[in-house]
Amino acid sequence: MKSTMQRREFLSKMWAFGVAAVAAAAVWTSWDFLQPTSPVGFGGKIKAGSPDLVPADGVVFVPGARAYLTRNDDEIVALWSRCPHLGCRVPWCESAGEFECPCHGTSFNRIGEHRSGPAPRGMDRFEVAVEEDQIVIDTGVILRGPSLGAESIDEPPGPPCMDGGE
Ligand code: FES
Repeated sequence: MKSTMQRREFLSKMWAFGVAAVAAAAVWTSWDFLQPTSPVGFGGKIKAGSPDLVPADGVVFVPGARAYLTRNDDEIVALWSRCPHLGCRVPWCESAGEFECPCHGTSFNRIGEHRSGPAPRGMDRFEVAVEEDQIVIDTGVILRGPSLGAESIDEPPGPPCMDGGE
């Protein structure tokens, strides 16, 4: 009789231990699954090389960030290559020294300010930081482009690319 009780007690304890182990695993898995992760690639922070690579009077494209880097005086600016009109990719036109959207013809100056065309504002940009001599573009932080009429640099465009100027 005593042996039966001990066996039942033992099995009962083992059953309780098993249930507790499964519950602990479920809690751990849920907690781990719900932890925020920092995105890798577009949507996260992207290293874009030394600030020395950014020209004062041109742009450099960073494919992983889908962004152009340029300078506005001493400040490095990261322009999202997505047009704020309907989302086409906006190429840089070297001969004109401006961005020209191939979809509906909006043009933006070198720092992404609206020049002409149907886009409702200048090019959106990403937050940029320089950490340990490396440019870091945070593609998770989109800053709205400047309003229409906010053009602040006086660089007249050269021959456009869209009309076969390049
Ligand atoms: Fe660029 Fe329309 S999508 S002007």
